[in-house]
Amino acid sequence: MKWTPGVKYGRLGDDEKCETESRLSNLQKRRRCLILAKTLCTICFAAALGMFGIYVAGYGSPDCGTTDNDPTNNLNNTFAPQCTPITDNQRIDCWPESGGVSEHKCVQRGCCWKIAEQSSPGLSGVPWCYYPTNFQGYTVVNVQTQPNGMKVQLQTTQPSWWPNEVQQVTLDIEYDTANRLHFKFYDPNNARYEVPLNLNKTTQHASVNEYMVEVPSSGQFYIKVTRRSTGKILFSTQDAAPLVFTDQYLQLGTQLSTKYIYGLGEHRSAFLQSTEWTKMAFWSRDQPPSLDTNLYGVHPFYLNIEDDHKSHGVFLLNSNAMEVELQPAPSLTYRTTGGVLDFYVFTGPTPDEVIQQYTALIGRPFMPPYWALGFHLCRWGFNGGSSGMKEVINRMRAANMPYDVQWNDIDYMRDHLDWTLDRNHFNDLPDIVADLHNHGQHYMMIVDPGISNTQPSGSYPPYDDGITKDVFIKKPDGSGPIIGKVWPGNTAFPDFFHPNAEQYWTQHAQTYHNIVPYDGIWIDMNEPSNFYAGSVDGCPDNTIENPPWLPPVLTGYTLRDKTLCATAKQHLSTHYNLHSLYGHSEAIATKSALDTILGNKRSLVISRSTYPGTGVHSGHWMGDNNAQWIDTYYSVTGMLNFNLFGIPMVGSDICGFNGNTNTELCTRWMQLGAFYPFMRNHNTIGNKDQDPAVFDATTQNIMRDALNLRYTLLPYLYTMFYRSHVDGTPIIRPLFYQYPSSTNNVVYSVDVQFMWGKSLLITPTTSQGTTQGQGYLPTDRWYDWFDHSYIDSPGHLINFSLPMEHINLKIRGDSIIPLQEPAVTTTLARKNKFMLLAALSSTGTASGELYWDDGESRDSISGGKYNLISFKVSQGTLTSVIQIGGYTSESMLLGEVQLLGVNTSPTTIVVNGRTLPSADYTYSNKVLTVKNLSENLLQKLTVTWK
Ligand code: NOJ
Repeated sequence: MKWTPGVKYGRLGDDEKCETESRLSNLQKRRRCLILAKTLCTICFAAALGMFGIYVAGYGSPDCGTTDNDPTNNLNNTFAPQCTPITDNQRIDCWPESGGVSEHKCVQRGCCWKIAEQSSPGLSGVPWCYYPTNFQGYTVVNVQTQPNGMKVQLQTTQPSWWPNEVQQVTLDIEYDTANRLHFKFYDPNNARYEVPLNLNKTTQHASVNEYMVEVPSSGQFYIKVTRRSTGKILFSTQDAAPLVFTDQYLQLGTQLSTKYIYGLGEHRSAFLQSTEWTKMAFWSRDQPPSLDTNLYGVHPFYLNIEDDHKSHGVFLLNSNAMEVELQPAPSLTYRTTGGVLDFYVFTGPTPDEVIQQYTALIGRPFMPPYWALGFHLCRWGFNGGSSGMKEVINRMRAANMPYDVQWNDIDYMRDHLDWTLDRNHFNDLPDIVADLHNHGQHYMMIVDPGISNTQPSGSYPPYDDGITKDVFIKKPDGSGPIIGKVWPGNTAFPDFFHPNAEQYWTQHAQTYHNIVPYDGIWIDMNEPSNFYAGSVDGCPDNTIENPPWLPPVLTGYTLRDKTLCATAKQHLSTHYNLHSLYGHSEAIATKSALDTILGNKRSLVISRSTYPGTGVHSGHWMGDNNAQWIDTYYSVTGMLNFNLFGIPMVGSDICGFNGNTNTELCTRWMQLGAFYPFMRNHNTIGNKDQDPAVFDATTQNIMRDALNLRYTLLPYLYTMFYRSHVDGTPIIRPLFYQYPSSTNNVVYSVDVQFMWGKSLLITPTTSQGTTQGQGYLPTDRWYDWFDHSYIDSPGHLINFSLPMEHINLKIRGDSIIPLQEPAVTTTLARKNKFMLLAALSSTGTASGELYWDDGESRDSISGGKYNLISFKVSQGTLTSVIQIGGYTSESMLLGEVQLLGVNTSPTTIVVNGRTLPSADYTYSNKVLTVKNLSENLLQKLTVTWK
């Protein structure tokens, strides 16, 4: 960070350059100021500082260094043959650092230097220092073909500029399955940190794989993976960032098939990522969702659409602080600060199949208990402690709101101490929980990982016992627990990778459960969040704390900000390596504790920080959003992403966490939230109550309708959770999942509308005062949920009506949706009769299925104690097939069948051989409703109309 005065840039004539960046600027695009005089350069930088406040601090000041008289000056420049063919869009940044670039330094790296000709905002990220076409990097010294893969030895020939270069690198290529390719770059001579993830690496070698891999037998290294059936590129380092493999800087690039790329979380953005020089940082962080920053979780996985509508996925298994840059070529560059480069490519070819293949590797989502699909209510800071909490519970009941789960935030704890109960303000919490249980409701509470170390010795077992069991993360010198600060004051942090940690966590969870028999645990602050930067004692000054390069992590390019020292010692490795896995490891320990405590009963864990595979154990809410309209939109893009990441149990704080909500916003949010797989209304301390029952009667009616709609749909939602659990199929889907071959490209950027499985299209309102809006209606027959009218759409944008009374919900023709009469809890609703809603296609067909079990046993699926019934309509007959009939201890009665799109008025309705009297059915507007039924769904069903 130095300023070198008094010299000029040769090639720039008399101009001098000032360069800075801002993460607050539009989509992380670089700001470069070309100004005429050095004094102005100073002004530019100062202005940038003022404009962007503290965010610019730490980015590095401009380096207006010299190139005069430098013999390297003309090696790689604008006119060199290795630089000229490269267009602005094809450039790959050769100076990924946050600042300090000069022509002189760029050229010294063997790279090309050219000021980007265009400086419009869209191109403001074009790097000025970029790789030449002939950058050697690693060359291939040996390729050994193996039965199901290759082993490639690489040797560095052109040194990178980073310290501790690994001279020899091995690349193992494994043809795992016909649709999954695995390849890993590592140091064959020194073991390096690898992510300790419990992947399902089962291989199933095929005689023909859907991918083909090309690596040269000698010369400059590249790897090119193409789709066998079409020749399209799935991964190719040609014309992309070259391999760099040093101790703390690893890099590799790939071409993208098209600009249609999704995933790469956790970030707040549109669902379709921008390839206009977008930089994304990966390092889990306690950060209220904001654009262009690293957030709570880390998911280095993307889905890319090929130009013939097939799709593939790429997963980089690396947990170090990382950056992904998306370039307009289109291409992508990975840069990471450690570990190895461990890639998986999934060939799909449908988006749904890509996610099935990805979740087969990282683990399929957990099967939630049925109650977890109900409405959850939470707030931080109940007025008057438990009396405020009871007031809310009572008014929700009095208002007849469907409502299943009451939560507590940290105010139930004594002095915010984990596993304690505040006897002054929440003494009757055990009674409240008993009462919830008596009403068929459930109870969840928060637990933070920070364990207070300042309680008198012998008075706080969670700390004393943690010391005895040696489970806390240690100081950099290994001398004792590293101490940070969270809600209870100074705290130690359990190392959930320590072999004693699970037992330790279970024991304290059990002790508290003996007092308050909760049904699930909310794990917050687990990035892990720390109110000190590093620790109470600071952090050492070394290359682990201050690596030679860092991605643009908040705040100001330091790893320790708002978390522990990177040098803190964990059982398996340094915090530097394991940091972004903290929430994941806590989710595993918490789920395991609940399994021990609750026996064969399912539970719910909701975690703020997540990593690939967390969905096996936990769901996720998207953190501290604001009570603002824009947050309703980002709740949808967030859900779409987490459904790609194998965490379908996801939602945002309904009505907004920070800031007071208002009636219209909260109403619309409740309508949208009724379609979050995880539906929770949560609010911060000091803010107005926002539970549905606190609003006026009209608003309550609308919110109750939204809840009743959700509860009606729960059998369908539960069936989707079953599919997600066994196949990995996402619940919340973008429109292109269902329509991957759509020729209207609009479908690839739709991200306000979304689908529930294959059959429901949800078009929410995400702005104030809006009762009409344009939306996309894919090529199909679509029925309106409320008036049952239908449209045969050619696949185009149409006007959607968005009345205040309800959300716009459309049913895809060709669907059969299992429903149930709603009730105020899922416990009661489960006792009601089922209904089947069959929305016929233009040719009179439809299909669907229903999964059912007792809603709570952990072994329902593994023990075959469930029912799976498929339904089909063709030629005026609806039939069922009992695929699995293993759950018979509850009856499953069908009370009603509704058929949409029946073209002619039927005169005879026959149900299971019985001709119905005319009082048992109605027909109008092409809707046939067959009612007053009591058919056992565990026997074959036949309904005929003619
Ligand atoms: C931060 C969480 O994100 C928020 O939901 C919670 O209310 C507070 N911590 C207090 O526990």
